[in-house]
Amino acid sequence: MAYIIASAGKGGTGKTTIAGLTIRYLVEKKGGPVLAVDADPNSCLNETLGVEVHTTVGRLREGSLQIVRSGSERPGGMSMEQLFEYEVQQAIVESRGFDLLVMGRPEGPGCYCAANNIIRKYVDRLSDVYPYVVIDNEAGMEHLSRRTTHRVDVLLTVSDPTVRGIQTAKRIDGLVDELGLEVGKRVLIINRVNNGNRKEMKSLAERSGLSVAGVVPLDSMVYEYDLQGKPIFRLPGDSQAVKAVFSILDSLAIR
Ligand SMILES: Nc1ncnc2c1ncn2[C@@H]1O[C@H](COP(=O)(O)OP(=O)(O)OP(=O)(O)O)[C@@H](O)[C@H]1O
Ligand SMILES: [Mg+2]
Repeated sequence: MAYIIASAGKGGTGKTTIAGLTIRYLVEKKGGPVLAVDADPNSCLNETLGVEVHTTVGRLREGSLQIVRSGSERPGGMSMEQLFEYEVQQAIVESRGFDLLVMGRPEGPGCYCAANNIIRKYVDRLSDVYPYVVIDNEAGMEHLSRRTTHRVDVLLTVSDPTVRGIQTAKRIDGLVDELGLEVGKRVLIINRVNNGNRKEMKSLAERSGLSVAGVVPLDSMVYEYDLQGKPIFRLPGDSQAVKAVFSILDSLAIR
């Protein structure tokens, strides 16, 4: 069964950046293969990873639904289920050490819960194929209540060095309890920290009962790569952000 790592946190805190570097860690240090799931309809995990996406599960699903609605013949007489499974396979982009599945946004009306059922179902199923799954979630807490996965081994909650970021992390932590989600380990990563606020933020988080796995410094390389549209995945191995994320993941003793 796959080891599943998922991201959470307030908007813009660095969830996608850290998910991307986590994928790199699993490829480089654990030998992969990794299934990367972009579960944020607005996200661009693919840009962080440096791969091109030609379609999304949401778009394909819309296509399947249209076939059903129009009553036209399904290709090869496939059942809806088979057709969709075929399409999910089509949506997987293969890269070196990892594959990427982009959920996208269902384009028709009111398909959100269906999309979430699909994420859950396919992550469950693909869990047998990939030793590691990394899910990059959208900002906020919606994805938790929608239960995009049955179980998560590590929930990486990312905060910026602000009181509001930590408060959101605390609310996420509370919601995990409230919903009784199956989460092995929950940790907080404080991202974009500069030396001035390092201690203060860490102790604020700890005082509110969160388990701080570590801090990631504000790294000008990340900013530069962003500016030039270069994938964060290809940051030099000795850049501050890569080193910090790798050392945090080392400390989590991932199987
Ligand atoms: N350690 C860091 N140092 C410098 N810049 C960073 C760092 N981490 C993230 N950033 C920058 O902060 C911005 C937001 O990062 P990212 O997209 O990963 O956040 P997010 O939490 O996924 O956002 P969203 O909620 O929109 O999905 C990006 O421009 C990213 O390059
Ligand atoms: Mg993101």
